[in-house]
Amino acid sequence: MRTKVGIIGSGPAGLMLSHLLHLQGIESIVLENRSRKEIEETIRAGVLEQGTVDLLKETGVADRLLKEGFLHHGIELQFRGRRHRINMNELTGGKSITVYAQHEVIKDLVATRLQDGGQILFDVRDVRLLDIETSSPKIRFQKDGVEEEIECDFIAGCGGYHGPSRKAIPEQVRKEFKHTYPFSWLGILAEALPSNPELIYSNHETGFALISTRSSDIQRYYLQVEPTDIIENWSEDRIWTELHRRVDLNDWKLNDGPIIQKNIVPMRSFICETMQYGRLYLAGDAAHIVPPTGAKGLNLAVADVQVLSKALTNFYHEQETELLTQYSKICTRHVWKAQRFSAWMTRMLHRNFDHSPFEYGLQLAELDLVTSSASAAKSLAEQYVGLPLEY
Ligand code: FAD
Ligand code: DHB
Repeated sequence: MRTKVGIIGSGPAGLMLSHLLHLQGIESIVLENRSRKEIEETIRAGVLEQGTVDLLKETGVADRLLKEGFLHHGIELQFRGRRHRINMNELTGGKSITVYAQHEVIKDLVATRLQDGGQILFDVRDVRLLDIETSSPKIRFQKDGVEEEIECDFIAGCGGYHGPSRKAIPEQVRKEFKHTYPFSWLGILAEALPSNPELIYSNHETGFALISTRSSDIQRYYLQVEPTDIIENWSEDRIWTELHRRVDLNDWKLNDGPIIQKNIVPMRSFICETMQYGRLYLAGDAAHIVPPTGAKGLNLAVADVQVLSKALTNFYHEQETELLTQYSKICTRHVWKAQRFSAWMTRMLHRNFDHSPFEYGLQLAELDLVTSSASAAKSLAEQYVGLPLEY
């Protein structure tokens, strides 16, 4: 097989890249080691920045998002038993976020790619990258027990944090940064009515909680738990007791109901600044992970492939390589700012039980500042709806 761009991974990064390239008449093949059903059912992110929604709209994959997604103009921050609204729309000159599940974005992109005649090979095995330092890199893999090879001009490594692409860059060349946080998130989906018209980020003395939504009858809630905790320790009763403790107010109670899904995810920051090596370009979680508090991961994946598709378009249509050369630099600049924001939100909102009462006092003062100073609130709002991608 031969194609122009071989894409490893059909997450938001891989699928969106394939879609953007197709709109420019550039062919690609996407390789995915899971089934279509599995990728369309994996529960992950929910918050889409203004820029992500705009891009999905401009490129014709936002019909369902516009009908079923929830447009939010603000978020609420809760601490010391009180709620404070950040009016993002007003503070950013009209920008907002949309709550629409990542697996719905995946469904929309897969359907559009297949409708447009795109090739997505699901259930592939043993994906290997070869000759990435040459002008004809190759991807070898197994499909239905048969060894296959795709020869390409470029490889886009979009296989997420555990995918094979980053590891294909020699270790001594990769410039990487890591940080782990002393928290994990327990996420649930519950059959319940929406609890609040906007997201609530709550800093409670027993830990952080986040109230989000998925539809008029399914809600998405998160709880800060210990990084060593396991899901078996969390019965339905214990989850509801803790959620109610962390978000209920005298005159407001969280809506609960049967829990239909629950899992624990660790929190870490990671950046591989070497996003390009030879003809291999990393995008999304393959190159960087942010803690989920800032809701940035999916949006960064989309931002990377926006730059990469433009760079590849310049290469194919204008024989121009400048943007390809600048790819790592442009993306890592944007990613570092999102890392900073996500780490800041994480520190401000989670309860760190190793902190002294003084450090906890500083944390509450930080929350007090962003909810009482217009300029501090503006800074949070600008970053939450998404900073512009500068290039
Ligand atoms: P992925 O979505 O990980 O996709 C990679 C794909 O590659 C997968 O389908 C995988 O199966 C495939 N793959 C892996 N290995 C191979 C292989 N060897 N061969 C072939 N294919 C392979 N982000 C936000 O923007 N907003 C949020 O609100 C938000 N909330 C989150 C909440 C939680 C609980 C979690 C866990 C994450 C959240 N994120 C959020 C982060 C977001 O989900 C990720 O950043 C996003 O999925 C990254 O997309 P990606 O395409 O780079 O990688
Ligand atoms: C959701 C996830 C996040 O990480 C976040 O900060 C806000 C909302 C969600 O899944 O809805």
